[in-house]
Amino acid sequence: MEYIFILGRNPELSILELQSFFGNFVYARNKNAILAELPVLKKGIISRFGGVIAIGEVLADEVNLNKKIGGLSLYYTSKNKLNYVIWDFTNKIEFFDNVKERLKAKFKEERLKATEKKIANFMKLQSGEEIRTLSSHKLVEEQYFVFENKFGRIIETCDYEELERIDMEKPVRRESLSISPRLAKIMINLSKVSSGEVLVDPFCGIGVILQEALRLGINVVGIDKDPKAIEGIKANLKWGKFSEENYRVINGNSTIVKIKKSKAMVTEPHLGEILKSLPDKEKSALMLKEYEDLMIKVLRNFTENIFGRFVFTAPFIKTATRAGIKRIGCNSNRIINNTGLRLAEGFPIQEFRENQIVGREIFVLEH
Ligand SMILES: C[S@@+](CC[C@H](N)C(=O)[O-])C[C@H]1O[C@@H](n2cnc3c(N)ncnc32)[C@H](O)[C@@H]1O
Repeated sequence: MEYIFILGRNPELSILELQSFFGNFVYARNKNAILAELPVLKKGIISRFGGVIAIGEVLADEVNLNKKIGGLSLYYTSKNKLNYVIWDFTNKIEFFDNVKERLKAKFKEERLKATEKKIANFMKLQSGEEIRTLSSHKLVEEQYFVFENKFGRIIETCDYEELERIDMEKPVRRESLSISPRLAKIMINLSKVSSGEVLVDPFCGIGVILQEALRLGINVVGIDKDPKAIEGIKANLKWGKFSEENYRVINGNSTIVKIKKSKAMVTEPHLGEILKSLPDKEKSALMLKEYEDLMIKVLRNFTENIFGRFVFTAPFIKTATRAGIKRIGCNSNRIINNTGLRLAEGFPIQEFRENQIVGREIFVLEH
């Protein structure tokens, strides 16, 4: 089957997430969407991903649209009213206009009061490009798309409101220190850990990564040196009604704690102090060295017992240098040379917002 994936604000990262999940696949890209041929997708699969806004199925192409459209079933509504949008991922204006006209004609023929709504919101991609997007999928009953010379229907959408609601209801939250559940999910997918296998988070805090992994059926081990964080995570896991058989939390120092054989490490360590103004090169270098020193010790402690991927965030610091403002990240070679691990293809990958002083680089290391 041919599918499109409409991706979030960092499409490059979302593509790596999808490729880690499905295995490397060939795709075509237009703005923040990709088109790929994949085996039939399971219903509800969108909830597995952190970086996918919607998934669509290709139903026709430029050559056979006119012939096929009459026979396509394009909506579920039993009412006689329908609001819809058409996502535009094509440079073929004539084809896009043809899709518009054909849809209108089909709905008219089927005596449906259908109204095309504009996709009026804007999302700024990490690259700075502004992209049209929907503020909520609930605004319309149906969504269609044109991707280059293909036409199709959106079959799954990400329920942001539900994700946010679950996150806000957790008994213990630490906004300034925690990563978002969406980024946690992306990193879990990058680790290629499967349900029933064990994921280790050596800087687990109050456990955003652990909870997302448990929801996907993955067993987890969390370690944190702060007893308060351990109390917080226990409260959160209890509230999440996860079975105690599937998790273990350890109050200890990850540079020395011993663990059993596990599949993967996924973690967000402390990325350094919160900065109010741009640091100079020396300050950034110091923060990065401190980070690398700790991470190297933790990786060396776990290399023997983790046989899959090591996925972690590292500071990516907006720095005032003599040559102007630039973002500086860790020394990958130093980490590699001191751990005997190697970088997976495509990493590290940047993940930051324009106004963030300390953004992230996501590393994926392998044996
Ligand atoms: C940025 S926070 C992790 C946030 C976490 N992802 C969450 O969702 O809450 C980093 C955590 O690492 C812990 N930490 C720092 N050094 C550590 C070490 N050597 N061993 C274990 N935990 C450590 C801190 O106590 C802190 O809770």
